[in-house]
Amino acid sequence: MKISFGEPTLPKSGAVIVGVLEDKTLSPAAADLDRRTGGALNRAIASSRFTGKKDEVLAVLAPANLQLSRVVLAGLGKPSAIDAAQMQGLGGTLIAHLNGAGESEAAVLLDDLSGAMAASEAAANLAYGARLRAYRFDRYRTKEKPEAKPTLQRLAFLSSGSGAAKRSFQQLEKIAEGVFFTRDLVSEPANIIYPETLAEKARSLSSMGVEVEILDEKKMKKLGMGSLLGVAQGSARPPRLVVMHWKGDAKGKNGAPVAICGKGVTFDTGGISIKPAAGMEDMKWDMGGAGVVIGLMKALAGRKAKANVVGLAGLVENMPSGTAQRPGDIVTSMSGQTIEVLNTDAEGRLVLADVLWYCQDRFKPRLMIDLATLTGAIIVALGHEHAGLFSNNDELAERLLAAGKEVGEKLWRMPLADAYDRDIDSDAADVKNIGGGRDAGSITAAQFLQRFVNKVPWAHLDIAGTTWSKKDAPTVPKGATAFGVRLLDRFIAQHYES
Ligand code: BES
Ligand code: MN
Ligand code: ZN
Repeated sequence: MKISFGEPTLPKSGAVIVGVLEDKTLSPAAADLDRRTGGALNRAIASSRFTGKKDEVLAVLAPANLQLSRVVLAGLGKPSAIDAAQMQGLGGTLIAHLNGAGESEAAVLLDDLSGAMAASEAAANLAYGARLRAYRFDRYRTKEKPEAKPTLQRLAFLSSGSGAAKRSFQQLEKIAEGVFFTRDLVSEPANIIYPETLAEKARSLSSMGVEVEILDEKKMKKLGMGSLLGVAQGSARPPRLVVMHWKGDAKGKNGAPVAICGKGVTFDTGGISIKPAAGMEDMKWDMGGAGVVIGLMKALAGRKAKANVVGLAGLVENMPSGTAQRPGDIVTSMSGQTIEVLNTDAEGRLVLADVLWYCQDRFKPRLMIDLATLTGAIIVALGHEHAGLFSNNDELAERLLAAGKEVGEKLWRMPLADAYDRDIDSDAADVKNIGGGRDAGSITAAQFLQRFVNKVPWAHLDIAGTTWSKKDAPTVPKGATAFGVRLLDRFIAQHYES
């Protein structure tokens, strides 16, 4: 789909989209089309339930005097309430509608409405939302029928200040490219994406100026990463630890970086504590946290963010085999703490224990955030609407909650407390990798991670419920969501860019 920007003029073909404000108030562009069609738009509104509330859509087949295919009315609601997120959602909803209708060409006519954001800014955000929704992972569909494919080829946004709209979109598109990189990586099956190949995907970012370093098994052994390596030892695929450093802040170059760590279990069978067969295929996306870190680095490098950010991804495959670790095994982590592995399916925390420790030890970051598809229990608690947020620092938590709200990747804060921490004390080692029972499973997992975090401000995002979606949302088609890329990009832009 080709997206373009231009000054307002009535197109000669295809679909035209115009806005309607609440209470059936036509925007100037809509009123003009209503006049040209002898009042067809007002009549269509009168005979429908469309009132111009935000996100409502009403399609009207264009009368013969216009050479257009159809006029689509888009509800804008209250002008003063229009914001970037609303425009992104509408952009996504519109292209889904246009593809459903079989349109190949469409133009959105935007006015500068008093009390609302500038039309050029609205245009850029509509385009961004459309781009995000248009994502497809179709590289393995070799026989898809043409009628099953999206039809929309060209989408134009016509407003005053179209040059500014285009420039603004070009920045947003860099974030979309990061989102798509993540969605691609998460969608790939585990026979294609495994630690070595995922590390190579990350390495490709070096062409954009990201410094990429890949630690192999030998290096990790030398560093004493017994916790991560214990998970990896059952697999024929050797583990990797990827370090990606974006030094976009020339002045603050030597200052402490923001650090983002991701769980990258390229497939989670559960190991010897094996998972049931039904639904196990989902565990190809157990590298979702690592996928977000890699896509985020691409977004930051793409828009040349003036920030110092280091991204780490711990990559392993969790398999049962003759060399796999057993329940009851005791491993020694890089921190020196010993871990009793009572359930080999609680492997993500074992991987992150060494990644977090290594990260704070080597980079002395100003703050550290990890993302992980860590627990099924977070889905029981929050479903697929919010990711779980755990933090030892209120300011960091507030900043993340706010950024999540703004981009529509919502977080919900969960507690950490000593009483939960006692639940992971082991009789045989310093700590055990599961709690005593099934209660508070996401919290005990977070408590485990916290044992490997020193004084640094830290937040853990449990994204098990939000990494993959079974239904379409305005800017996120079903499948891999890349939940976290937009959130962390915004978080960094707001607070850590000079
Ligand atoms: N990767 C899973 C968590 C998960 C489950 C993610 C469902 C997405 C959907 C994780 O490694 C795991 O297996 N966790 C166990 C922990 C338990 C053994 C304490 C779980 O949640 O059941
Ligand atoms: Mn597991
Ligand atoms: Zn897992």
